[in-house]
Amino acid sequence: MKVTNNKPIGVFDSGLGGLTVVKQLMDIMPNEDIVYFGDTGRVPYGTRSRETIQKYADQDIRFLMTMDVKMIIAACGTASAVISDEYRKKLEVPYTGVVLPAAQAAASISATGNIGVIGTTATVRSGAYGKAIRTIRHDARVVGSDCPLFVPLVENGWFEEDNQVAKLVAEQYLAPFMDGQVDTLILGCTHYPLLRGVIAKVLGDKVRLIDPGAETARFTAAMLMQNGMTADGGKPGRARFFVSDTTEGFSQNAGRFLHADVSADVERVDIERIAESG
Ligand code: DGL
Repeated sequence: MKVTNNKPIGVFDSGLGGLTVVKQLMDIMPNEDIVYFGDTGRVPYGTRSRETIQKYADQDIRFLMTMDVKMIIAACGTASAVISDEYRKKLEVPYTGVVLPAAQAAASISATGNIGVIGTTATVRSGAYGKAIRTIRHDARVVGSDCPLFVPLVENGWFEEDNQVAKLVAEQYLAPFMDGQVDTLILGCTHYPLLRGVIAKVLGDKVRLIDPGAETARFTAAMLMQNGMTADGGKPGRARFFVSDTTEGFSQNAGRFLHADVSADVERVDIERIAESG
């Protein structure tokens, strides 16, 4: 008999970025229920200290646990880079971040071993992607660069391919990766795949872009399958979204990105209160 688990998958990010994981999860596992928490009241995480990021991630996870989730996905490069192994081991449900799935993909796709990583300041400072890549591929040369303006561009909806401001900003940030310096670039913050069109235009087709959302969704599907934890497939999955600030902006941008009107499924929560009482 096939073992199944119909509880929702818990996904969190500082804002909209984790939707790049949600979208891919919906595509490859359409029967899974998803509970998403976007910490829109405290975004960005990537400019903050390790201690603050760990504290916010802990509160986000506590909230998701109150929703009786079967696993946790840190759909945030910054939280994934900062959450410690000790913390992870104490969780009562399986966990994945986005660093390992993206690092595995980059290590196997890169022909030259010259791999670039873009991410938030906290992510690049942590060196987490480089460490994960070099564990898998010892010859890799990893170059990291932070792109602090990308997150506010995405949170404000300026992510379409023809957006001129996004293009100018991308040209500045991506200079270290031009002219054959890397053959693979990890979009190491989950907000960045929303800017994929802009980034691809600037870098051209010789640089392979690794989307942590897609890699993490595949990784999650394999993890649930191996552990007999997939939904039984009896009904289409439902996604519910929770945010820590007003719902309107999130609903609008999430709708544009997910190509669906999700406004009826978006609720505001008081994250600090829930985390403390949960
Ligand atoms: N989406 C996030 C990440 O993957 C967070 C960006 C931020 O809050 O600074 O790093």
